[in-house]
Amino acid sequence: MPDSPEDILITRNATILEIAFNRVPKKNALTDAMYRQIADQLEAAADDEGIRAVLFRGEGGVFTSGNDIHDFSLIATGQRDAKDMQVMRLLRILAHYEKPVIAAVEGLAVGIGLTLLLHCDLVYVAKDARLSVPFVDLALVPEAASSLLLPQIIGPRRAYAMFACGAVMEGAEAAELGLANEALDAAHVLVTAREKAHMLSQKAPGALALTKRLMRDGALIAAQMDREGALFAERLVSPEAREAFMAFAQKRRPDFSQF
Ligand code: COA
Repeated sequence: MPDSPEDILITRNATILEIAFNRVPKKNALTDAMYRQIADQLEAAADDEGIRAVLFRGEGGVFTSGNDIHDFSLIATGQRDAKDMQVMRLLRILAHYEKPVIAAVEGLAVGIGLTLLLHCDLVYVAKDARLSVPFVDLALVPEAASSLLLPQIIGPRRAYAMFACGAVMEGAEAAELGLANEALDAAHVLVTAREKAHMLSQKAPGALALTKRLMRDGALIAAQMDREGALFAERLVSPEAREAFMAFAQKRRPDFSQF
């Protein structure tokens, strides 16, 4: 399916920038072009005093099924270079982002669909949302500094089970463990996230920015992203990952017994 500019919907709601994933037939899987759009929007919003908060959401009752696996295959087969990946640019922006970022999560949040939440300041999830980070199932490693941040929030045992075993966490548990602020009925998730974004947009922006800077070690997060990114790029072109991506395309389970 070709990339469409409509795959990301941008809405400016007074002082709030809403970024919506809108590739519903592909469960909002994120392509390189979509990451580029998101990164451009975040950069512009950072310099725009009229924007006081950013809200991420997904269309069609799904947050996102994560990075587009076809895009990964293009790198695995040498048709694209890992160093050009726009997701890496987006992550670097998020590491140091100072404006409040809010997420409204319904349905699936896979891969970066969850790791993005580690860079959001307020997170509202549907009780029945399904969060997962199955990087090892794709023969990959964690990204977005999630190898640092996820164990800090939910503990190393649960984080390992999610990364390595592909364990899925429901929204209700995500809220209990502090990965989300609140788990709500799906119908209330976006309304609540918008209310909170509006509330934050009326606070003193300088105080908000400094609070975030004090709470997050941007340099440490960026350094962990770099460590992960180097390994992630290596993994993308590994025979194990090629098998995983081929299996996904062929709708079968990967066979890692050969490695
Ligand atoms: N990349 C590319 N395409 C994806 C995708 C992804 N991450 N996630 C879903 N899709 C596509 C499917 O291939 C399918 O396309 P098709 O209709 O052309 O066959 C379509 O979206 C619908 O997905 P489907 O698998 O039929 O929906 P489902 O509800 O049964 O399962 C998921 C949804 C998300 C659980 C499943 O698609 C999946 O496991 N996706 C991969 C998730 C992943 O590993 N993401 C990367 C993490 S780093």
